[in-house]
Amino acid sequence: PEAITVADLANRMAERGADLVKALFKMGMPVTLTQTIDQDTAELLVTEFGHNIKRVSESDIEIGISGDDDAPETMQPRSPVVTIMGHVDHGKTSLLDAIRGADVVAGEAGGITQHIGAYQVTLPDKSKISFLDTPGHEAFTEMRARGANVTDIVILVVAADDGLKPQTIEAINHTKAAGVPMIVAINKIDKPEAKPQKVREELLQHEVIVEQMGGDVQDVEVSAMQKTNLDKLLEAVHLQAEILELKANPDRNAEGTVIESKLDKGRGPLATVLIQRGTLKVGDVFVAGASSGKVRAMIDDKGKQVKEAGPSVPVEVLGLSAVPSAGDPFTVVDNEARAREVAAYRQGVLDKQRTTAAPVSLENMFASHA
Ligand code: GTP
Ligand code: MG
Repeated sequence: PEAITVADLANRMAERGADLVKALFKMGMPVTLTQTIDQDTAELLVTEFGHNIKRVSESDIEIGISGDDDAPETMQPRSPVVTIMGHVDHGKTSLLDAIRGADVVAGEAGGITQHIGAYQVTLPDKSKISFLDTPGHEAFTEMRARGANVTDIVILVVAADDGLKPQTIEAINHTKAAGVPMIVAINKIDKPEAKPQKVREELLQHEVIVEQMGGDVQDVEVSAMQKTNLDKLLEAVHLQAEILELKANPDRNAEGTVIESKLDKGRGPLATVLIQRGTLKVGDVFVAGASSGKVRAMIDDKGKQVKEAGPSVPVEVLGLSAVPSAGDPFTVVDNEARAREVAAYRQGVLDKQRTTAAPVSLENMFASHA
């Protein structure tokens, strides 16, 4: 019953997606990153890579933390979720702003992104793309790694006047480990000292072969400042998304991931949640990480109250009992007793993780959407 995409499995094993595909090919299974494999095959693969295995128990599956178990006929197309990554000051926020046509940079303290933000933009053809902004500081490496996990596509921003920098390389490695396709945005081409071709050559050294160098990674020269070629970048995302054929079941209890959270003086604990499957509705009982709650209200990325949010939609949720952590799984359950049970279970898992240096196991691979 449980199936997992090769990309997801690679992600959870912290192995390169391409390596898993290669191993599967050797096992006589020619599959692509986005195709699903069954649990037995997953186990075999995990053994192959020398990780420990522990099979997920039925009760874990029941409490809805074991992954994607939707029947094919329930699946409907969903918008892509894009994470923008790159070195500090290479223009991630500026690019996201330019795309949204809003100006968040001006409002940020010192122009440095303080948290992961999530927004959805609508293209002229009415299709939507969800964007996650990520902080550029090294201390946020882990969060950025998590950012890749909820992501379908990564836009790697490289400033054409600065070239590849440590965090650019880090982002490349995270993206490869997650098996997520990448689009390179070569930014700041308005600058006289911009050297886009040098960026392409540097990328080559890290095995990112862009189209202009004969590879299959789309690269687009942009200027976030002068809003140059943004349409081409969005087109590239659109094209990549079409190849991925992204789908989710909207008609089930919502599941997603906490993107950011905070304690608001007036409104209490708040969490921005990216819905990944199902539809979240006002009144739904949920577990966020090891805390539980009931959706009191939902606010979309434009500050508007909404009654429900479907797959790929980021939404701010009010009604939490405590502040969850970024990257925590968010799961709707049938009733409050169940919520307490799941919260307690997750607290137990957290406690265990704290006391043992947990090996990668199928349990935590299937038990988390993060
Ligand atoms: P962190 O969040 O701190 O990692 O930075 P960031 O990657 O989000 O960069 P940000 O968008 O804050 O931009 C950094 C600086 O580069 C700002 O001063 C921007 O005005 C400038 N900048 C961004 N894009 C461009 C561009 O296309 N051209 C030029 N000339 N400057 C740009
Ligand atoms: Mg920023």
